[in-house]
Amino acid sequence: MGPMLSARLQTIYNFLLPGTEVWDVCCDHGYLGQAALQAKTFSHVHFVDRVSNIMDRLRSEILEPECTNFYAIDARALQEKLYGTVSIAGVGGNQISKIIESWQQQNILHAQRVILAPQSHLGLVKNCLASADYQPHSQTMVQERGRIRHILVYDRSRPYSVNDENTAGGR
Ligand SMILES: C[S@@+](CC[C@H](N)C(=O)[O-])C[C@H]1O[C@@H](n2cnc3c(N)ncnc32)[C@H](O)[C@@H]1O
Repeated sequence: MGPMLSARLQTIYNFLLPGTEVWDVCCDHGYLGQAALQAKTFSHVHFVDRVSNIMDRLRSEILEPECTNFYAIDARALQEKLYGTVSIAGVGGNQISKIIESWQQQNILHAQRVILAPQSHLGLVKNCLASADYQPHSQTMVQERGRIRHILVYDRSRPYSVNDENTAGGR
């Protein structure tokens, strides 16, 4: 049995695109990524958290190493290209904006879908993905421990192309 997802994480989970790789960024307990792994409908699951103890624990708990990657780093410092579905949940909107900005500067954000569940600064988060590449898909509100949490879903508005490799960012 997988972890029981809260209503918020279940809503995020329901927006994951089947068949794609999943990025559980700022994963902490990793419940979202673990649920995706257990469903076996996603090609790969990446766990990212800057706390190395968290990543050590996940590494020892997760039994499907061949479909999994663990990154014990600040998400802003990621170097891998991000494809599939990316979730950043449970952190402040400031932090989410900084992470997205850094990925855009490095030209590594090529995900088909980005799901953002900020704990604050909703407006800031909405602005950070307002680029030519992403458009809003939906916004859902979920109540969690007496608080309203917003879940913003963005889809890539044009498919990723190899020409993107040659645009800004120098990668
Ligand atoms: C409250 S938990 C969120 C867990 C889960 N995503 C959720 O929504 O339930 C926040 C986690 O984000 C991690 N975190 C915060 N900023 C980060 C960053 N810039 N890069 C990587 N991890 C970060 C923290 O270490 C912590 O484990």
